[in-house]
Amino acid sequence: MSYEPEDELFAAGARDLHAMEPSRWVARFTHLVRPGGCVLDVAAGRGRHSRWFLDCEYSVLAIDRDLSGLRWLSEPRLEKREADLEDGEGWPLGERTFDAVVVTNYLWRGIFDDIVSAVRHDGVLLYETFAEGNERYGRPRRPEFLLQPGELLARVAPRLEVVAYEHGYSDYPSPRVVQRICAIGRGRRLSQCPLAAR
Ligand SMILES: C[S@@+](CC[C@H](N)C(=O)[O-])C[C@H]1O[C@@H](n2cnc3c(N)ncnc32)[C@H](O)[C@@H]1O
Repeated sequence: MSYEPEDELFAAGARDLHAMEPSRWVARFTHLVRPGGCVLDVAAGRGRHSRWFLDCEYSVLAIDRDLSGLRWLSEPRLEKREADLEDGEGWPLGERTFDAVVVTNYLWRGIFDDIVSAVRHDGVLLYETFAEGNERYGRPRRPEFLLQPGELLARVAPRLEVVAYEHGYSDYPSPRVVQRICAIGRGRRLSQCPLAAR
């Protein structure tokens, strides 16, 4: 793949290279994504997860309202889509489904059902973002950007099976309260999902 050396990456806007590491939650469950499959990176930002999955030999569709953070990343297996997911125009990807849908540090409840529907029948949803309690530590503080206790569980319940779920305090990469879930499509069995050693 042809991403730029780390100093160019830094110049491209990744002021904190640490911030370009994949979420540990995402990395922990990547082995559940079908090898060589296609991953949707929702609100991809600077592309830390797009890069992660490309490095792991997946194809990626990165979607964001502002693709400037992804300029540094160019590779035939990467498709970039500029779209405002909150403009009320509807989900821009139609019925397209993915082997994995990844959402981190982003919450817009209006597209929750679309995100869940975009997970293939045997695919994986990896979602991690700020949750109630984060107000004590910093932004985001507004309720519309913070998950309520159990909210991810409730949102996925009709269509997906939960492999792992957490809501709590983390001091990594900075003090915060997060909620995260790994859930699979019902075309797959929990007993077929090997749990990674922690
Ligand atoms: C905090 S960043 C998270 C980036 C990435 N998911 C990560 O964890 O590294 C939030 C991202 O959401 C994108 N975003 C915010 N509002 C959006 C909208 N209405 N439609 C599409 N993307 C949006 C921003 O452009 C930004 O890239």
